[in-house]
Amino acid sequence: MAAAENASKVRLKVGDKSLELATTRATAGADGIVISPLMSRTGLVALDPGYLNTAACTSEITFIDGDAGVLRYRGYPIEQLAERSTFLEVALLLIRGDLPSRAELEGFEARIDKHMYLSDDFRQIFSVMPRRAHPMATLGAAINMMAGFYPESLDPLDPSAVRLATALMLAKMPTIISYIYRRAQGNALLYPQQGQSYIQNFARMTFQLPGERFDVPDVFYRALDTLLILHADHEQNCSTSSVRMIGSARTNLFMSVAGGVAALSGPLHGGANESVLEMLSHIRDNGISPKEFMAKVKNKSAGARLMGFGHRVYKSYDPRAAIVKKLADAVLEALGVRDELLDIAHEVEQVALSDDYFAERRLYPNVDFYTGIIYRAMGFPGSMFTPLFALGRLPGWIAQWREMINDPAGRIGRPRQVYVGLGERDYVPLGERGDD
Ligand code: CMC
Repeated sequence: MAAAENASKVRLKVGDKSLELATTRATAGADGIVISPLMSRTGLVALDPGYLNTAACTSEITFIDGDAGVLRYRGYPIEQLAERSTFLEVALLLIRGDLPSRAELEGFEARIDKHMYLSDDFRQIFSVMPRRAHPMATLGAAINMMAGFYPESLDPLDPSAVRLATALMLAKMPTIISYIYRRAQGNALLYPQQGQSYIQNFARMTFQLPGERFDVPDVFYRALDTLLILHADHEQNCSTSSVRMIGSARTNLFMSVAGGVAALSGPLHGGANESVLEMLSHIRDNGISPKEFMAKVKNKSAGARLMGFGHRVYKSYDPRAAIVKKLADAVLEALGVRDELLDIAHEVEQVALSDDYFAERRLYPNVDFYTGIIYRAMGFPGSMFTPLFALGRLPGWIAQWREMINDPAGRIGRPRQVYVGLGERDYVPLGERGDD
């Protein structure tokens, strides 16, 4: 089988058949060969486990150049957004496509502010979850429950219902996450206060203790906002692809996003930030040197992976990791926190970056490597790290879901397979199967 380019067409030869396939031009990055007619014209399917080479859609939202370490939302470099924007502004940018005017942004912030409140009926759901439940399990359940609480916002084809679902999700997610934490701590649930910013409300509802004032320096809020911006979208990653796939069946936004939460919880995806801290603590608690740990990682039989390292797309430094690394040093200093896990992380990174195993495989720190250290300095336990990732990723999930719903080329997601099981055989009654 050989493929050769012919202007904007590609000619594919399969045995004695020849097929002309259209290409789709990218504005940046790889162009796409449209292989949809492959099966009807040749009887063959494309096989690509893990989608290493398969684009499931065209998208205008996020661009990554994995070799150059570039990430842009709607054309804006992540470094500029992290330094100068806010999370809600970035959410609008991702969802609507452009930076908002001041009036649009203030209107949006006011709408979000109004919806942060959760009704008492909704607040009840946290009390039925065991306190030891992993926060991601409760988060997924709570987001699914939103579909039951807000039936007027479910129709994926009604733009005003989708706008309402968008506002409800963005507004209630910080409240939900703070309640999950408070419930685990055995503390009463607090209400959002109008007039406080999104991040201030979230942090106060999470951490304020009964009878005490909640007072943290601005650097705390700014760092949290920056971390959310860094996580806000990452094109067709595992959770976003799940959200799109679920939504392609015309499933409402809430239940599609709940699927994204499930995908994100895995340790190879969003769950990695929690695993990094566990790994660093393991190294510290067992008195293992970073070199010894690295030997275990390289000896794959030991089952250890260097969590927070490696990425399917980035084959050089993850630009988000570079920002988080600087932020970690600055935040810990400003909060007056001394954390030996940060020193261990720096050492592990140094050892890995000078090791041939990692160089040959082009494995560099990803966004999860240093985030946990900042969250820990802020007072979040490890189990809350992935919910924080989910809060950050929410605008991306919403933007991608909305793009998918409005895509005229969109169809229900339904991959093919290459069947490698047994051929047809006759049913054998139970008594005739013999004992083994
Ligand atoms: N530690 C040790 N070896 C690794 C690592 C790692 N973290 N990542 C990849 N490798 C090796 C892997 O064993 C394989 O080696 P070989 O060619 O000898 O078999 C090679 O590098 C390629 O790895 P892969 O697993 O085929 O790569 P992938 O693109 O399928 O997986 C990944 C990407 C992110 C799942 C993987 O790098 C990984 O497991 N990293 C650790 C978990 C992690 O930090 N995940 C967060 C990713 S960024 C944020 C997010 O998506 O949520």
